[in-house]
Amino acid sequence: MDIRALGYLRLETTDLDAWRRYALDVLGMVQATGTTDDTLLLRVDDRAYRIAIQAGDSDRLLAAGWEVANAAALTEAAAELEAAGVAVKSADDAELAERRVQGLIHLTDPCGNPLEIYWGQAQDHTPLGTPYGNRFVTGDLGLGHVVLPVPDIETALDFYENLLGFQLRDSMKLPPQAVPTAAEQRDFHWMHFLSPNSRHHSLGLYPGALPPGIVHFMVELETLDDVGRGLDRTKAAGIPIASSLGRHTNDRMVSFYAQAPGGFQVEYGWDGLIVDPATWVAKEITADSFWGHQWNG
Ligand SMILES: [Fe+2]
Repeated sequence: MDIRALGYLRLETTDLDAWRRYALDVLGMVQATGTTDDTLLLRVDDRAYRIAIQAGDSDRLLAAGWEVANAAALTEAAAELEAAGVAVKSADDAELAERRVQGLIHLTDPCGNPLEIYWGQAQDHTPLGTPYGNRFVTGDLGLGHVVLPVPDIETALDFYENLLGFQLRDSMKLPPQAVPTAAEQRDFHWMHFLSPNSRHHSLGLYPGALPPGIVHFMVELETLDDVGRGLDRTKAAGIPIASSLGRHTNDRMVSFYAQAPGGFQVEYGWDGLIVDPATWVAKEITADSFWGHQWNG
């Protein structure tokens, strides 16, 4: 399967006003055309939008959208999924129009996480005009990364690695106390990092359950100053810092994590590792950061 990148995220929120303030005033994203009182659409680059946040009764991930190159690639993806026994459903015209894409299928991963695979997303050719001069790193690397809860970690890894075709970049053993919602007690639980492109990871697999259906998502900024200013804005807005500034060992990202509205985190980072998939070998990391990243609570 030829998935190219994490294209978009769709979220449901019980507090759209809080998300509007957080995304626009703190993260420095831009409200996209098509935003309504009930749905906030966010631009970070030349795509029509990359994040959709809908007002609703719960705080949860509605879909992680994965991009393929064209209609033929989507047809092939659907056929491979069905051959593997994964139910797929084609989007109707209203869904295509809402997502600004030309073709799309819905599916879930083996742990029930909602996914969409699509091609042909519309662009917005007007200047992005971020509020703080901040610029996001996207392009062929996609939106950033998302970490999904997968209590059945072995089945999930097999699905993403061998069916969706993502490359395993590295893995880390988590102690039992780091995975209180694991399906079974073990001496340690593997967490895995994968990508379909040269961004070190576009997907993290966390081996426990979490109610929002998302652990965190990461957006990457072009400069360290973009991240530092974002940290200042986060503190000034009174948003809890979930993890202090630090540099990860695996993707070398310098980042901090903030509590997003809805019980999960947003990672705001810079200097993520670009890998060569042709020469990459999967490894184990034995610490998640070289320095920093002190977790609060
Ligand atoms: Fe991350």
